[in-house]
Amino acid sequence: MSLSASRRLAATTALAVAGLLAATAPAALAVPASAAAAPTPPDIPVANVKAHLSQLQSIATANGGNRAHGRTGYKASIDYVKGKLDAAGFTTTLQTFTSSGATGYNLIADWPGGDPNSVLMAGSHLDSVTSGPGINDNGSGSAAVLETALAVSRAGLQPTKHLRFGWWGAEELGLIGSKYYVNNLPSAERAKISGYLNFDMIGSPNPGYFVYDDDPALEKVFKDYFATLSIPTEIETEGDGRSDHAPFKNAGIPVGGLFSGADYTKTSAQAQKWGGTAGQAFDRCYHSSCDTTANINDTALDRNSDAIAYAIWTLGAGTTVPPGPSFENTADVAVPDSPGAAVTSPITVSGVAGNAPSTLKVDVNIVHTWRGDLVVDLVAPDGTAYRLKNSSSNDSADNVVATYTVNASSEVANGVWKLKVQDVAAQDTGYINSWKLTF
Ligand code: TRP
Ligand code: ZN
Ligand code: CA
Repeated sequence: MSLSASRRLAATTALAVAGLLAATAPAALAVPASAAAAPTPPDIPVANVKAHLSQLQSIATANGGNRAHGRTGYKASIDYVKGKLDAAGFTTTLQTFTSSGATGYNLIADWPGGDPNSVLMAGSHLDSVTSGPGINDNGSGSAAVLETALAVSRAGLQPTKHLRFGWWGAEELGLIGSKYYVNNLPSAERAKISGYLNFDMIGSPNPGYFVYDDDPALEKVFKDYFATLSIPTEIETEGDGRSDHAPFKNAGIPVGGLFSGADYTKTSAQAQKWGGTAGQAFDRCYHSSCDTTANINDTALDRNSDAIAYAIWTLGAGTTVPPGPSFENTADVAVPDSPGAAVTSPITVSGVAGNAPSTLKVDVNIVHTWRGDLVVDLVAPDGTAYRLKNSSSNDSADNVVATYTVNASSEVANGVWKLKVQDVAAQDTGYINSWKLTF
């Protein structure tokens, strides 16, 4: 058995192995490692953003070459983004609407906590045109907003503002999804949105650095960020109101955003300050079949992704809370092949006052020869089950080695928690190797 070190509370942590409570001797009373302090905005790993773009490219390739409204590639894109957010502890909502005779989807992801009367939103359209995979337009914004949201989860950010992220459908048909969202928000809810930040095309291959000038305070945050990199910016003028910030602005909500250019031509003055090719469009593959993963400038994608995180951290004004105590069970539990019963592995939590956090971290290590067979739940002491992972007939990879974040704030922390695993497809088998809860 092993006990993970706690940075905040070393005393009275305990763990269960094979269902037996093994309390450690109380350690010397720990002093809080660090008081909650204003955290430094993270450097968003551009490799992670690019990995999302590769997934969106694969989705387009497998679905007739696009991710357009009403096509299978759009829904697959939504499912991909939603899966990442659900596993990271967001509360996701799929909003459906109808446009041109097809069902459209907006995905809304709320980060638990923050002031419900002061909501900071960031969003991107997730649909492509029918003529191509839409990796710069707008996989780029979608992937960067997704990775920023995942960074919020990784940091355990506890912002003053309530954070909400949105992925819009049918932008390419005339801002349909974002208009639908804003029009269907009760006016009391609209009034709570302190700002909306929009990211539509932020990895253009011949990039410019354009900042929306609609709201001075939001504009300043982005300008401040680029000033720290000594990168000159310009005001975005390539068609005001051509993206999803327009419905928010029309509803009186302050808006901001970034843009690296579409079909306008880079001037020589712009090439001088930003590099790239004068006399050529910022994005020569705009709305075409060549808007693939090859149509991305990594540097622009990297800088703009970091700028998004900077804005969320700065405007959200949060704190990060150091992780609390952890409890681990390293006893192996065999998972019988399907059709077999679910098995569980217990962890007894004690010495944690009050409820579990909205960012309960669940580290799972399951050895298995076909992880798609497995359905995995976290079961709280009162029996409430939280789905960590569904089965999936096409996920043939080995093992489940993952960290899930669960909003467990309605659960009392102390008691016996269980990891519940069921194998629902015949042939491959494995065992729970270990799992851990961090409060
Ligand atoms: N929204 C446009 C599209 O998806 C792209 C675009 C053109 C744009 N001009 C803009 C986005 C200005 C933001 C700002 O086709
Ligand atoms: Zn477009
Ligand atoms: Ca199996």
